[in-house]
Amino acid sequence: MPRHIAIIMDGNGRWAKKRFMPRIAGHKRGVESVREMVKACIQRDIPYLTLFAFSSENWRRPAEEVSFLMNLFIRALEDEVVKLDRNGVRFRVVGDLSHFEPKLVELITRAERQTAGNKRLDLTIAANYGGRWDIMRAVERLLAAQGGKSGELTEADLAQHLAMAYAPEPDLFIRTGGEQRISNFLLWQLAYTELYFTDLLWPDFGAAALDDAIASYHNRERRFGRTSEQLSEGCEQGSPAAAAAALEAQQQDA
Ligand code: IPE
Ligand code: IPE
Ligand code: MG
Repeated sequence: MPRHIAIIMDGNGRWAKKRFMPRIAGHKRGVESVREMVKACIQRDIPYLTLFAFSSENWRRPAEEVSFLMNLFIRALEDEVVKLDRNGVRFRVVGDLSHFEPKLVELITRAERQTAGNKRLDLTIAANYGGRWDIMRAVERLLAAQGGKSGELTEADLAQHLAMAYAPEPDLFIRTGGEQRISNFLLWQLAYTELYFTDLLWPDFGAAALDDAIASYHNRERRFGRTSEQLSEGCEQGSPAAAAAALEAQQQDA
């Protein structure tokens, strides 16, 4: 099973439009799919679920839609946190909260504190999140931690300052709504994630659709740069040094 599933919940507006309803009706229905996904991940013992709810670019939408989304977020927090807590869900938000209204920030902080001890499912909502924002902030934090010292940096040095440093990188990425792009979601963390795109609109995405995505994931061979043969042989580890030694042996043979 994937340990970490990350989802771009797209297609709410089109779902509503198809029904001659305002876009916001689609967002409202989308909350039900969120609820269903949380339940499905708990039932399937998937320990990390990350949902992209609002991108750093979504401020460009009409003001009424943005404020509806903010109010929906507030309402969802007011209604759902007790249930999440009761079900052992640890709730976190990643993103730049500095432009959110104080009431929303307060609800988020309280929810994070209240659920901090839960271990069944790690639920992360990405709100006013952007992958580039995340990497830039990690660089700033890394430089501050270095205190002006120069020295060789590793990927791990940077990764520990990313917003989701507490979670393993996603195994499975799902985007609903038919679009095949990342839209500035977890840029660093998706480097080796299996990508899955579906035409289903987010309000139509449920547990059965999640199982289809997981089934597709099970058919993938995650090679991380190795060959298929290496994987079936139980993974003899390669390295630049081993390759250099092999090259030297070949040259001596020749
Ligand atoms: C995704 O649905 C929800 C958010 C981005 C907040 P959209 O609102 O993008 O729906 P479409 O893509 O217009 O159908
Ligand atoms: C991506 O959806 C962001 C979220 C689902 C929160 P968008 O609908 O905003 O993405 P683009 O603009 O079509 O790439
Ligand atoms: Mg969209």
